[in-house]
Amino acid sequence: MSMEQFLQAWIGLGGVAIPTDAQADAPRRPARLILLGAPGIGKGTQATRLSTAYKALHLSTGDVFRAAKANKDKGGLTPALEAAVGYMVRGELVPDDTVVDLVRERRAILAGPYGFLLDGFPRTAPQADALNGILSGVNTKLDAVLSYTLPIDKVIERLSGRRTCKKCNASYHTVAMPPKKDGVCDKCGGELFLRDDDKPDTVRVRMQAYEASTKPLVDYYQQRGLLVEITAEGTADEIFEKSLSIIKDRCSLSV
Ligand code: AP5
Repeated sequence: MSMEQFLQAWIGLGGVAIPTDAQADAPRRPARLILLGAPGIGKGTQATRLSTAYKALHLSTGDVFRAAKANKDKGGLTPALEAAVGYMVRGELVPDDTVVDLVRERRAILAGPYGFLLDGFPRTAPQADALNGILSGVNTKLDAVLSYTLPIDKVIERLSGRRTCKKCNASYHTVAMPPKKDGVCDKCGGELFLRDDDKPDTVRVRMQAYEASTKPLVDYYQQRGLLVEITAEGTADEIFEKSLSIIKDRCSLSV
């Protein structure tokens, strides 16, 4: 598969595009990272910055389900994906089998030359076990699991102020990262909206799912020597710098 076909395949499967110069200087030693943390803590914000810095592919399972939701009316969704959209809108976790199939479908890409940032996956112990199997099947190992932490009231503040672009998916915050013009995306001029699952009742369900199913992954990866804890206090840029410096021994930027 040529590099161009590789990237086309990635984007076709719902992967987020990476900088256009990445092909020219793809690192020989790619970074392979998981981002862990409560809903709204800032994983997507950091994943965007880290994927640019490491020229790594960013896979957000949430983005794949949101893209499916946006295309629902056009038809063509598998029954599993259609059901997944329902779980997402209610704030519940999508069943493990559906999420694992989605990641397994992308396994060749995870083993590719760019490395990857998994944002929102795995979220349960069975998903983490399945990921181990998928990665060992393609002879690939994780470098680190970045676990972001923040008091719950600050997380809720971030979630309730989030506004997302309908067109390009860029994320803003009404106070911490406002767009230049109210309600309009700086990058593409698209309309900004409040995600259905950012409404208070749904946020409560998401937080419960996080506490019950995802938080135990902190111990899971700690026991495997992969966990790196990072406090998510401060601005997005400060957290990014902190992340880079904490993982610099595991994944170097210059290779
Ligand atoms: P997903 O999209 O993964 O949602 P999430 O984990 O709840 O995470 P979010 O996208 O809400 O938040 P984030 O941590 O990325 O924060 P962000 O950077 O946007 O999943 C959605 C749903 O899909 C799930 O509920 C589930 O139904 C389903 N799903 C997905 N994966 C699944 C899986 N593996 N298994 C089962 N189901 C799955 O930041 C939030 C806000 O804060 C933004 O406004 C941002 O601008 C702002 N912000 C960021 N950093 C800062 C900062 N430092 N200071 C101030 N504000 C900040």
